[in-house]
Amino acid sequence: MMKTRETEKTCSRCDGTGWILVEEDGVELVKRCECAEGSLRERNLEQAGIPTRYRHCTLDSFEIWNPEDPTLAKAQRSVQEFVDLYPKSEKGLLLMGPVGTGKTHLAVAALQQIMREKAPAVRGRFADFTSLVLEIQMTFNGSGSSQEILRPLVETELLVLDELGAGKPTPWVMDLLYYMVNTRYLDGRVTIFTTNFSDFPKASGEESLADRVSHRIRSRLFEMCRRLELRGIDYRAERLASREWGRQR
Ligand SMILES: Nc1ncnc2c1ncn2[C@@H]1O[C@H](COP(=O)(O)OP(=O)(O)OP(=O)(O)O)[C@@H](O)[C@H]1O
Ligand SMILES: [Mg+2]
Ligand SMILES: [Zn+2]
Repeated sequence: MMKTRETEKTCSRCDGTGWILVEEDGVELVKRCECAEGSLRERNLEQAGIPTRYRHCTLDSFEIWNPEDPTLAKAQRSVQEFVDLYPKSEKGLLLMGPVGTGKTHLAVAALQQIMREKAPAVRGRFADFTSLVLEIQMTFNGSGSSQEILRPLVETELLVLDELGAGKPTPWVMDLLYYMVNTRYLDGRVTIFTTNFSDFPKASGEESLADRVSHRIRSRLFEMCRRLELRGIDYRAERLASREWGRQR
C-alpha cells in the first residue's frame, strides 16, 4: 500500500495503489499518482549522495553578494536556464573558478531542483572526484571492482562530478575516468562538472585543467558542456567571516 509520508494514511486519490486513471484528449491513461511520484523523488534524493552540508543549496539562496563581480549573476542566470530547459538541454555545465566561489553550491542547487521538480522523476547523483579517484585506485589492489564503482555514475541520468582535476590520478585511473565521461557523452547523458582549474592559468607554472585531466578529457568537456566561469572572491573567507566578525566589506 502506498502511504503518503506526511499523514501515513492511504492516499485517497489512488486508494494506495500508486496509479490513477486520467483522461487526456478523450483517451484513458494509467498514470503514476502524485503520492508515488513524491516518495520516488524522496528516495532518489536520498540515494543521490549529496553531502549533508550542501543540501541547503538552492538557486534562490545563491546571493549576488559582490556587485563588483558580474560572474556571480551570470553564473546564477545560466544555471537557472539550464534547469528550466532540462531535459531538453543537450549540454551539461562546466563551472570553473577559484576556491569558495560557489561552484558546488550552484551544481547541487541545479541537481536538487531538477530532481525535485521535473516530471517524470529524475535520477541523479553527486560524486566527488577525489573520493572517486581513491575508490578506483583501491580496486587496483583487489578491493572491489572499478566497474561496480563506475556503473552507477555512468548510468545515472544527471551527474554532478565535483572538483574535477583534484588529486593525482594514475594514467590507469585517468583512462577509466575518460571511459566514464565519454560513455555518458555518447549516450547523451548530461553532466555538471566543477573545477578549480582554469584553461588559462594566470601564474606561470600553474597547471591548467587539461594538464590535470588530460587533453582528451578536456576536449570532450568542450563538446559536452557550457562553460561558466566564476571569477570572484572566496565567499567562505569574505562573506562568512565578515558576518562573524561584523566586518564591513
Ligand atoms: N553566492 C553565494 N551565495 C550564498 N552562498 C554561497 C555563495 N557562494 C558560496 N556560498 C556558500 O559558501 C560555501 C562555499 O561555497 P562552495 O563550496 O560552493 O564553493 P566552491 O566554489 O565549490 O569552492 P571549492 O573550490 O573550494 O570547492 C558553501 O557553503 C556555499 O553554500
Ligand atoms: Mg566545491
Ligand atoms: Zn496516491
